[in-house]
Amino acid sequence: MIESVVLREVRGRVGILTLNRPKALNALNDDVMDALGVALLEFDADNDIGAIVITGSEKAFAAGADITVMKDLNYVEALRSDFITRNWETIRRVRKPVIAAVSGYALGGGCELAMMCDIIIAGDNARFGQPEIKLGIMPGAGGSQRLPRAVGKSKAMDLVLTARMMDAAEAERAGLVSRVVPAERVLDEAIEAATVIASMSLPAVMLAKEAVNRAYETPLAEGLLFERRAFHALFSTEDQKEGMVAFVEKRPATFVHR
Ligand code: HXC
Repeated sequence: MIESVVLREVRGRVGILTLNRPKALNALNDDVMDALGVALLEFDADNDIGAIVITGSEKAFAAGADITVMKDLNYVEALRSDFITRNWETIRRVRKPVIAAVSGYALGGGCELAMMCDIIIAGDNARFGQPEIKLGIMPGAGGSQRLPRAVGKSKAMDLVLTARMMDAAEAERAGLVSRVVPAERVLDEAIEAATVIASMSLPAVMLAKEAVNRAYETPLAEGLLFERRAFHALFSTEDQKEGMVAFVEKRPATFVHR
């Protein structure tokens, strides 16, 4: 049997997707990105899943888009095949939270994939970078836009233009990652965070995710308006009553919409 390039596992209410091209340091080709997209949408539609984790191997989350494939690509083919947009942006349609559990290299498209996730949890051996400039190209899956939003212009320029890597500690200081844990803990930590998220009210989780994403896509006034509308809407859910009554009664909430 041919082993899948993306492994699926379910633990409790968490869907786990493991990039599985270890010999190529999880270089991201069409097979991987197609499989990842399909799996993400299936987990997103699955009522038994409340949050998703994407991870790689201990040595590499993903060392980038597959250079062996890209080396023969020309401009017209890249344009005509809608290179990367076709299957890399599926993750943007996922409405449940997605956590990247990053161990080892997250470079080029690997760093960009991590940045498309909602939360990045890093092992202390993680190395982030956008080294495309060394290949005579530049980031093409959002790195030139998401990295400056995450770490500011100066550090983003530094990484994109010099191709240097940053370690987990620097990535945490810069705000790219939310937590750094010992490398052997990174998947467990991500699953624990995802389990917590998956225990919350799903409508609140989905709207909160959407609202935070608005902060990166709209002017403040529009984002605030979206937040206020979503906030008001949540008072129509049974889960709002349950959450608040449970607090007053000093017991854990049991949400119905999960
Ligand atoms: C294809 C890759 C790869 C990649 C590693 N490999 N990265 N294959 N595409 N992006 C392969 C190597 O060729 C090698 O295959 C095997 O994985 C192990 O890698 P080594 O280089 O031998 O390992 P090591 O010496 O430990 O070095 C690790 C590394 C290095 C520093 C991560 O592999 C590296 O620099 N990789 C390229 C990183 C990069 O430039 N990423 C950006 C790609 S461009 P063999 O067969 O020899 O064992 C990009 C554009 C995104 O991502 C734009 C939008 C999609």
